[in-house]
Order: sequence, then structure tokens, then C-alpha cells
Amino acid sequence: MPAHRVALPTGESFLVADGERILAAARRAGVWLPFECGWGSCGTCKATLVEGEVDTLFSDAPAIKPRDARRRRILVCQSTPRSDLVLEPTSVAGAGPEWLAVEDRIGTVVANEDLGPDLRRLEVELDRPVPYRAGQYAIVELGPRLRRCYSMSTPSIDGDRRIVFIYKRYGSRQGSSAMWQLVEGDVVRLEVPYGGMWLRDGSDAIVMVAGGTGIAPILAMALELAAGRDERAVEVIYGARSAGELVAANELSAAVESLHEGRVRLVVESPDPTWAGETGTVVDLLSPAASHRYYVAGPPPMVEAVLERLRQGGVGIDRIVFDSFG
Ligand code: FES
Repeated sequence: MPAHRVALPTGESFLVADGERILAAARRAGVWLPFECGWGSCGTCKATLVEGEVDTLFSDAPAIKPRDARRRRILVCQSTPRSDLVLEPTSVAGAGPEWLAVEDRIGTVVANEDLGPDLRRLEVELDRPVPYRAGQYAIVELGPRLRRCYSMSTPSIDGDRRIVFIYKRYGSRQGSSAMWQLVEGDVVRLEVPYGGMWLRDGSDAIVMVAGGTGIAPILAMALELAAGRDERAVEVIYGARSAGELVAANELSAAVESLHEGRVRLVVESPDPTWAGETGTVVDLLSPAASHRYYVAGPPPMVEAVLERLRQGGVGIDRIVFDSFG
């Protein structure tokens, strides 16, 4: 298979197979390149193309700005070489000890079942177990040039090859439609793990805030806390537009309420007459405390509203870990 050589200012170099993503080839070769999302949204992997030409595999990637083309900047997670390259990464972030290596896996669909309106649970059995931290996500390859990020809703258990995703179908969007069509026995490729959402050590009280399918990483972390019999005080605020969309409420409550000091608060924006719980948004239920540690996951407008409320309440950004998607 034809391959191109990529050289870095460190003197390291590696080969990239025809059509392969530069980041994937670097990982395979054991060469560190800065990255975070692996999908095209964060911009951490931007590099200056000092020499050579590339093809862009995701031209609408959110992290690409018009000035990047003028400066010959590319996303190495979404580019493949057309010639030998010399690259200069724009970030100097090193591989911290907390980062787990991203690994490729083949997964077979075990179940893809309805949970609620346009919401499903996809269970996949991997060819081999893969270590990840509860709260992290996988990139699922759903077709040629069709890769999407989904957080695992289960923690990683030694030797366990099954992973689970909770996801939503968004109208005609290609990625979620392809997920929706998966049936038992279908095979998908996955890259695991990505993302910086995981439980930080310490004894501070924890507040977790989830909106919509943001419940997936929050549920994984809650299950991990319960399995470890964590003694920290934990409050989880879980919100959705309707009660029917609170699809993980029972599993979440069972995990959190098994903790030494755990409580779940469910909130619905547009309740039907049978809803007996709280009404409003997750922001309405927040009482920011500078000494607590916050984990926030959900659609971007929700995450932004929560961050703003926490900022106004005097919570430092170093006390908050967040993941916004949807
Ligand atoms: S790693 Fe996030 S854009 Fe490439």
C-alpha cells in the first residue's frame, strides 16, 4: 500500500498509509501528537503544514476556521497526506500520565433498543477489552468518512468486552441515523478512549449535571462511584424536556442512592400532568459552591448556561469538567 512519510520538528517521523488519518498513523507508530477530541471539534491537533499537501476528510469540521487555510494549518485528526509532509504541531501539550492510549477495536452489535422518544441504547461487544475512564467517549466509524463521538454509559470493567452507548436520533443527521439502523450482528470499528471527562481524585463534594444524552458519561461515573463505594457526597441533577426523555433515571438513582451520601434530582422543562417532580431546567436547581467539584455534560446551550451560572456563583473553572455535545 503506498505510504507517505510525515516528519516532525522533534526529528521523529512515521509512515501514513494511503487514505489513513495522520493522527491514527502517529498513534500506531507510537509517536505523540497533541489531540483531544479526535473528531474535528476541539482544534487541539492543529498543525502547520511546513511542506507537502494533504486531503481533508472532514472539510466542515467545527475546529477549522477560514484563517487556518491562509496559515496552512490542518487538523491532523481529519487529514491524510497526498505527499511526504513536514508538520509543526501548534500545541505543545504533551502526553500527560493521565492520558490512556487510544486503541482501535472491532465491535459487534449485541442490541440497539428503544429507551424513549428518539433515544436508544446501543450495546456492542468488542473483539478485546479496552481500558477507559468512566466519562470518556469512543469514536464510532459508521461508514466511509462517517465517524461520530459517543460517550460510554458504562464504566470500564477489567476483562469486560461489552460497552454501552445512550444516543439520540436527530432528524436526518447522517451519524445518528446510521447508529439507529444498526442491528444485532452488525460490525463497527471504534477508537477508544477519547476525552477529558473522568472523576478527579480528592474528597470534595461532587455535583454532576446532565442534560439529554449527556446522561451517558454521568451515568458511567455514577456507576463507577457506586462500584467503588466512594464516600464523597454526590448530587446528580438530571434534566430533559419531558419525563419520557429521562431514560436512565432508574439506573442512575439506584447507583447514586447506594452511595454513602448520594442524591438524584430529576427536572423536566415541559411536564405532562402526571409529572410529580421538579419543573424547570438543570440551571434552576443549581446552588453553586466554590468548594465542590462539578461535572457537566449535555447539549452546548445547556452546558454554557450551567458554566455561566457556576461562574456567577464563584466556582473556578478549575473546579469544573465539562463535555458538550448533541
Ligand atoms: S483532535 Fe480535536 S480537532 Fe483534532
